[in-house]
Parts: sequence; C-alpha cells; structure tokens
Amino acid sequence: MAYKIAVLPGDGIGPEVITEAVKVVRAASNDYDFEEALIGGIAYDQTGHPLPPATLELCRNADAILMGAVGGPQWENIQPASHRPEIGALLAIRSELNLYANVRPAKTLKALLNASPLKGDHGMIDVIVVRELTGGIYFGQPRERRDNGNTAVDTCVYTREEVRRISEQAFAIARTRRHEIVSVDKANVLETSRLWREVVTEMANANPDVKVTHMLVDNCAMQLVRNPGQFDVILTENMFGDILSDEASMITGSLGLLPSASLGPSKNGRAFGLYEPVHGSAPDIAGQGRANPIAAILSAAMMLQYTFGDLEGAQRIEAACEKVLDAGLRTADIFEKDCQLVSTSKLGEAIAAAVS
Ligand code: IPM
Ligand code: MG
Repeated sequence: MAYKIAVLPGDGIGPEVITEAVKVVRAASNDYDFEEALIGGIAYDQTGHPLPPATLELCRNADAILMGAVGGPQWENIQPASHRPEIGALLAIRSELNLYANVRPAKTLKALLNASPLKGDHGMIDVIVVRELTGGIYFGQPRERRDNGNTAVDTCVYTREEVRRISEQAFAIARTRRHEIVSVDKANVLETSRLWREVVTEMANANPDVKVTHMLVDNCAMQLVRNPGQFDVILTENMFGDILSDEASMITGSLGLLPSASLGPSKNGRAFGLYEPVHGSAPDIAGQGRANPIAAILSAAMMLQYTFGDLEGAQRIEAACEKVLDAGLRTADIFEKDCQLVSTSKLGEAIAAAVS
C-alpha cells in the first residue's frame, strides 16, 4: 500500500514550490499518495482558522507532511494574534504534533559557490543545525502585558527531558557524519542554558563516540562567518536555532535552496515529520513563476530519507538538483551571467526529468 503524504501548500509562493516538489517525488517513486489541505492565511480566509481541525486530522493520519509556507502582509494584524498564520498555523502545528526536532542542513552547492557572501573556499559550509522546536521562549508561560501594557513578559522554560530528546536526535545525526556536535547556549547568563549544558554534558559522557563541545551563542554567530567549515552539527535551543539557522543558510548563498525537517516521536516504526523549505511565503513574487522550487524539492528529499528511510531516492533527487544547476538553469534569485533564466515550473520539470 502507498504511503500517505499530507500536502499543505499554504500562502504566497508555497503552492508553486510544492507543486514542483510533488512532481519530483512522483518522478522518483510510485510509493506515495498525496492529499492536500488548507493551512495559513488562505485557511483563515476560507474557514476562519489558520490551522483548521480537518487539516490537523489529515496530518495526524498521514505518514508525513509536506508544507509550503504560510503568512503574508494581509494577515499580519489579525486579532487575536493567535489567529495569525505564523502563530496559529506554524507554531500551532509544531506544538500539536509534537514536532520537537527541527533539522536544518545548510550545505554549499558547488554550482553556486560564488553566491556565498563569504569569498571563495572560505564560504564552503556543510552544517546541520538541530534546533529544539517546541519549547523555550517561543512557548513559555506567562506571555503577557502588565502595567497597563507598559511591561511585556516572555518566559523561557526548558525541562531536562526536552533537552535530552533533542540531544538524542543530534547524536543520531552526528553518527551519520563527522561524529562531532557543537552545543550552543548562553550558559554564562541563562539558567535554562545551564540546565541545557548539564544535560548535554551527561549525554556526551554516556556517548563517548561523539565529540561534544560547548559554545556560547554570541561566539557561535561570530565563528560561523569567521570559519564555517569548523561546524558539522550544531545543537541548540529554539530561538538561538532560529537565528543561527538563518545565518548558516545565508552562507550557502541563497535561502531559496534550503530544506528542513521537523520531526516528532516515531509512528508505525518510522520518524514522523513535517518537511518544509526554510524560506517564507515571499508574497512579493507569488504567482509569477519566479520562486525557486529547490528548497521545497530538497525538503521532499529529506522526507524520503528521514521518514521513509529511502536514502537512495533522496540522493537521486539531490543529484538531480545539482545536475540541473550544473547545466546552468536558474531561477531569478540565483541567476548568474551566462546562465539560462527559467520559471519555477520549468526548473521543477527539469529536475523531475533528471530524477526519473
Ligand atoms: C522559522 C520561522 C518561524 C520561527 C517564524 C515564522 C514563526 O522564522 O521557521 O524559522 O521563528 O520559528
Ligand atoms: Mg526563522
């Protein structure tokens, strides 16, 4: 029987890039059935809620989720704020489905080495940021205004178990790579970071095959531009991971290229996860065929690898992306002299053709 993929195109360029991702997965394999549901601003407009119960239900019954992007200027000021796409859809689906492990690879593609803002080989990066996704200051209570609105409060909370389970993911990923983890915190200031460092240190002692070092987040931000090649796996909490993953991704040259996985507890013996491009909904270029579908396509490749254990299929999709870039096809965001400018769907078709 075919596996079931819940497809959530969302807003802005989401639908365009997801169409191409589905096209490429279909070219790679017959093992998957796709079913679409609403999420984000479009879901709010059509149903009054950015994450309708029917969508959540479809996701719970699926083997994996492929998502585009959510949000846009017309939904920025919705009241209550809990109905805005970023909070009511994105943070909500992460939390509802317990997708606590955000895996964000940032890897230089050879064809695009010159796109990095760091010069030449100095800009080579191949890192995976493992970001805790359902705890920390994003979700801590209370979160409120006091003092007639003049004081704002956010709360950062971590439990030992939350740190342990995300660290476990990082160890598993490190074992498929250089067996090295840099755990990033702010233990010179924050109590949550001191707990973080304590738990990661205990796990490092129990798993001596992986070399673990600790780094303060401000130093890490600096080291990433000074010498990105020193990093292999970065393990960190929710907000630091949000910031550092954007920084790492820009070093590759284009946010439009980077995939991500948000993994929860396994289901039916397989890792359950939501796969989405790191980029947002880019409303300014939506509907024009200008979006780069590669991040969405590589997210689908991550789905094959992490949920379905199809490493071969994932590698075929990655190789197809590289091949098409090597052949000089480019969307506008990564266009260079002497290359051929193509639309979102043309690039997707070329990648699908290179896969099958
Ligand atoms: C991300 C995004 C989200 C986050 C926003 C849109 C809520 O920046 O996925 O990195 O901060 O987690
Ligand atoms: Mg972010």
